[in-house]
Amino acid sequence: MESTVQNLLYRRPEFYELVYPEPDESTPRFCLGLFERHSPSASSILDIGCGTARDLSVLSRTCPECWGVDYLPEMIAYAKRVRPNLHLEVGDMRSVRLGRTFDAVLSLGSALMYAIEEKDIEATLATFAAHCHVGSLLILDMNNSVGYLPGGSFKETTEYSISTPEFSAHAVANFSFDRRRQLLIRNRTWTFQSGPPVEDYCRFRMFFPAELEQRLKAIGFRVVEMFDNKNFLPSDLTGRTLYVAAIFGA
Ligand SMILES: C[S@@+](CC[C@H](N)C(=O)[O-])C[C@H]1O[C@@H](n2cnc3c(N)ncnc32)[C@H](O)[C@@H]1O
Repeated sequence: MESTVQNLLYRRPEFYELVYPEPDESTPRFCLGLFERHSPSASSILDIGCGTARDLSVLSRTCPECWGVDYLPEMIAYAKRVRPNLHLEVGDMRSVRLGRTFDAVLSLGSALMYAIEEKDIEATLATFAAHCHVGSLLILDMNNSVGYLPGGSFKETTEYSISTPEFSAHAVANFSFDRRRQLLIRNRTWTFQSGPPVEDYCRFRMFFPAELEQRLKAIGFRVVEMFDNKNFLPSDLTGRTLYVAAIFGA
């Protein structure tokens, strides 16, 4: 992760799931649907960039071996505290090697977009491959960069308010681009009932479907499905999130 990243939610992981609630567990349920379609007997999962390990926690109800890795010690400390049944480690997606393979490797919530430079992208994809065996299923989800084209879902500004007993805030996120370097830039301001505002800053590498497919192919993955929704509906990929499923060594 770049040293310039500022993210209130990474310093305070206990707020992450309040800001991005997912009561219907739709992301892990979508992963389970992909397992059914492509890897029905999957019994081991590695989540790279697992954050608070919320998705892994749901998957661990049916999958016996659930491992997660995240760059931020704060995230892993929080995840271990609230989800002690999982195998969680601090690690960098560009270099971590766990010495084993998994039936499924996940990288969700745009974690791959933190690979900014070419060497970071290549190293991260090599990490995915290093933890796969023939037939392992890779699932990625990230901002859908191709959905930013006209007719798509891009919004220059998004606003959200959170009001819970633990945390109340209003956030305004402004998005811009470094087009030459294929980067999405987010400046976000948090305001609270009292106290000074907090500024976040992050750059994300934008990935396009054909580029991803080629990159994955080059390291041994065959893309089997791409969606912009979690209902397995075919579309022209205009939605906000791109979901990719790929099989290793097939
Ligand atoms: C937006 S969060 C998504 C977390 C989780 N996958 C989810 O969907 O809830 C992105 C995560 O990627 C992690 N991350 C960023 N760079 C990383 C790296 N180099 N290695 C491992 N994790 C990284 C961040 O620490 C953060 O927890």
